[in-house]
Parts: sequence; structure tokens; C-alpha cells
Amino acid sequence: MTSDSAQHPYTVVAFSGSIRSGSSNTGLLHLAARVAPPELRVMIDTTVVDLPWYDPDLEGSLPDVAADWRRTVEDADALVIGLPEYNFGPSALAKNAIDWLTRPLGQHALRGKVIALVTSGGGGGGSRVQGTIAPVLSLLGNTVVEEPVVQIARGAERLSADGTTDDSEIVDVVTAKMAALLVALRAR
Ligand code: FNR
Repeated sequence: MTSDSAQHPYTVVAFSGSIRSGSSNTGLLHLAARVAPPELRVMIDTTVVDLPWYDPDLEGSLPDVAADWRRTVEDADALVIGLPEYNFGPSALAKNAIDWLTRPLGQHALRGKVIALVTSGGGGGGSRVQGTIAPVLSLLGNTVVEEPVVQIARGAERLSADGTTDDSEIVDVVTAKMAALLVALRAR
């Protein structure tokens, strides 16, 4: 074991479902990386923006970017997903990135992962979107970290894309989420 892996025994891949330049969901990931316990090595992955639309016809000959994305997740212990709520559901980008991880059946990339969903939404705080995704993820043989719920109302007004915020409530809940992620990883 290298000294780096001794300090960071768990690899966490984080991706944002928003490509907006000022994205507060991306901001939640940067904040999560900053406040994570030292045992977590959080890597923010942006390759999901280059994924083509999921297409079962491509399963026999995966585009390189899709193969890389699956390998990145397979090699990780956990995922943090910055999941925007668009029209009561996930953004198309987030859903597409997840769909690429869910096939082939029986050999998908999500088995055994610990997954934390964090959402910055509009006035409603994105209170519906996690309920549409979490049950599907749970069916795939992983652990979804339920508590604490991170649903930030009007997050774009409270959090920058680099994770800067002067709102201690946001810092505290994201810190607690990352601590819960570590607990779930240790319990696997
Ligand atoms: C939204 N927004 C939104 N918010 C919410 O809480 N529930 C919703 O159903 C929707 N629907 C919705 C649809 C579309 C097309 C857009 C563009 C926005 C608001 C949205 O969640 C908010 O602007 C977030 O700040 C977007 O995330 P980023 O870009 O800051 O990461």
C-alpha cells in the first residue's frame, strides 16, 4: 500500500449532472471534496459531459469514453452525484451518465458501490429528484446513503460552482453526508 492509499483508503468518484458554468450542484461536489474525511479521496470526474446518448446498439463496441467511464466507476469504492432537479426529475446529463453504468445486466458498474446523492434545486430544493433515482440505484446491489438528506433550496444563490459558500448550514450538511458515506463504506 502506498502512503497515499494509506491516507486515502477509499476512492470516491464525483460527477455533476449540470454543465452550467455557475452550477451549484458542481459546487456541492467541490465542497464535498473539501470537507470529506481524510480517508476519502474524492475525484471530480467531468468526462460524463462527453458521453454519447446511451444506446444499447453500442454495447458490443463501446465508445472509448463510455468504456473509460465504466472503468472509472468500477475502480472506485463510492460515488457522489450532484443531481439537479429538472421538471421533477434528474437532468438528462445525470440520467445518461447513470444509464451507461447500468448495463450489461448482471455485470453493471454499480454493484457494491456506496452512493451519495446531493441536490441543489430551485425554490423547492429539488425535493423530488432523489426519490426517482435512489430506488433504482438500490436495486442494483449498492448502498445509497440516505441520511442526512442534502437538498439545498435556491442553491444557486447560496453556493458557487467552486464550492464557496458563507452558509454554514450547507457546509454542515455536506460535511455530515461525507462522514455518513465513510461510515457506510466501513460497513460494506
Ligand atoms: C429547474 N429547476 C427546478 N428546481 C426544482 O427544485 N424543481 C424542479 O422541478 C426544477 N425544474 C427545473 C427545470 C429546468 C429546465 C431548469 C433549468 C431548472 C431549478 C434548478 O434546479 C436550479 O436552477 C438549480 O440551481 C440548477 O442546478 P445548477 O445548474 O445550479 O447546478
